[in-house]
Amino acid sequence: MARYEIHGGTPLRGSVTISGAKNAVVAILPAALLVNGPCRIENVPDISDVRILLDILQGMGASIEKPEPGVVVIDCTRVTQTRPDEKLVRKMRASYYLMGALLGRFGKAHVALPGGCNFASRPIDQHIKGFEMLGAAVEETDTYVDLRPGKEGLQGTRINLDVVSVGATINIMLAASLIPGQTILDNAAKEPHIVDLANFLNTMGARISGAGTDTVKIRGVNSLHGGTYAVIPDQIEAGTYMAAVAAAGGNVLVKNVIPKHMECITTKLQEMGVKVFNYDDAIRIQSNAQLRKTTVKTRPYPGFPTDMQAQICVCMSCAAGVSRLTESVYETRFFGYCTELQSMGANIQIAGKTATVIGVEQLYGATVAAHDLRAGAALVIAGLMASGTTVVENIHFIERGYENLVEKLTALGASIRRLED
Ligand code: UD1
Repeated sequence: MARYEIHGGTPLRGSVTISGAKNAVVAILPAALLVNGPCRIENVPDISDVRILLDILQGMGASIEKPEPGVVVIDCTRVTQTRPDEKLVRKMRASYYLMGALLGRFGKAHVALPGGCNFASRPIDQHIKGFEMLGAAVEETDTYVDLRPGKEGLQGTRINLDVVSVGATINIMLAASLIPGQTILDNAAKEPHIVDLANFLNTMGARISGAGTDTVKIRGVNSLHGGTYAVIPDQIEAGTYMAAVAAAGGNVLVKNVIPKHMECITTKLQEMGVKVFNYDDAIRIQSNAQLRKTTVKTRPYPGFPTDMQAQICVCMSCAAGVSRLTESVYETRFFGYCTELQSMGANIQIAGKTATVIGVEQLYGATVAAHDLRAGAALVIAGLMASGTTVVENIHFIERGYENLVEKLTALGASIRRLED
């Protein structure tokens, strides 16, 4: 089985270039289903979630070319399939965006329920509510969702999400882009990838306003045309490298970032004693690895992202004093990595939504297993700061979302290699 072997204790130095945002590209690729004509998409990360999505779209009849690294030209004009391959759909979470895109383009869809990171129960009731309010007849079983036009047909409307959901916001934006009339989505999520999807769709002729606020308006258009679009840099990948430098120490220029997107993470690292310098599209991070305690509560954007919970927990594990980490988006997320960190010497006590992290002098290398993408990334950081050798197993989770992790960390001076039996 593939695994990473890490010899810890080396400070990180140099520069690292952040890839395109996973959570944006997994929405933008299905959005290409709505477009008549070729979409040239740039800054596409080479990660397994992208490879699976491209296989799904190709299987549905899309033409896909990769003229250069990081660029995908996708033309879905000839797609007629509304039933994407079930096995592939089950391999990743964001395949549920095929529902909204197919509903918008064809008025119907039959999509298996998604797989991906199961760090918590991840309901899709708000997605279904949105589709129904847009006029779809929805049949949902344990294994698939079937969508078709209801008696009155598909029509824009006002939808109020009961919970702030990234996935539901995106799915409704996808479907409503080609559904007649205006859709107003209240209590929408505001994450950078939602703005990025709106920018992509608007570049192709959609009429979406308000993305990035809690009310998004989508005026349905008859068709979308091809064009060129570059995906934003990955906020969480950047945050992961920043946390790695904070934890292991060093001085690294993190390039291709939007510093504004990083503020919630930057502030917490500064509180822990890390020096952070913002430039136009880069951040320099300096750390002597002597961190101070902090308090973090995860929240939807612009709050501290739940996808950075595990990485900041590793930073807390060796910080002086007692830190508190509260999860308010996915309550069971601690269980994906805290036991593994404890086996490396961390002192973490979990009570409900809050982990109390009592800083220890040192983590010690051990064999640990990734249970989801971000938990896996956090264990890599733990390995970088620990003494001795850490082996991280189940790295297929990590490779879903981090492009060239081993190469990027090696270029920063880390001792990490990928081993395969
Ligand atoms: C997205 C991200 C994921 C991140 C999460 C929260 C992608 C592909 N994935 O996941 O990396 O951890 O946002 O920032 O972008 N909920 C419901 N009903 C629903 C939908 C969600 O109750 O229909 C709840 C969830 O259980 C959770 C909260 O809403 O407690 C937020 O979930 P949501 O924003 O939908 O997360 P995802 O889109 O699955």
